[in-house]
Amino acid sequence: MLAVALGAVCCGPSGPQTPAQRGRIVYMTNCVVCHNPNPNLPGSQGPAIAGSSRALVEARVLHLAYPPGYTPKRNSHAMRAFPQLAGEIDNLTAFLQAAKTDQK
Ligand code: HEC
Repeated sequence: MLAVALGAVCCGPSGPQTPAQRGRIVYMTNCVVCHNPNPNLPGSQGPAIAGSSRALVEARVLHLAYPPGYTPKRNSHAMRAFPQLAGEIDNLTAFLQAAKTDQK
């Protein structure tokens, strides 16, 4: 499933990219130091985050916050913010949604 979702690339690094493809690059560049390259799995520090909502991604990445009423998967405060990724929230969300598999 993951291979299918991520394998649907058409044109290589310099060709047109979908939001999920762009988000995958942003994720691999900024997030996998702590989160798993496969976001369905826990990483070295961060929890599994495949399927995260846009509100959750935005709150975490920009503000280290959570959407109102959201119960965090972890009670730690080990993540750091990436304010420079404000323009990539939609792409990151698209990647995390596309990467989500049904297995739990
Ligand atoms: C320095 C390590 C680190 C980096 C880098 C990092 N995270 Fe995290 N992330 C964590 C940890 C640890 C948590 C658990 C809460 C906490 O400790 O802040 C977390 C929690 C999250 C959550 C909330 C999970 C939940 O449902 O409760 C999301 C979403 C998330 N990270 C997305 C990202 C994205 C997207 C990036 C890249 C832009 C990123 N993180 C980069 C460590 C990191």
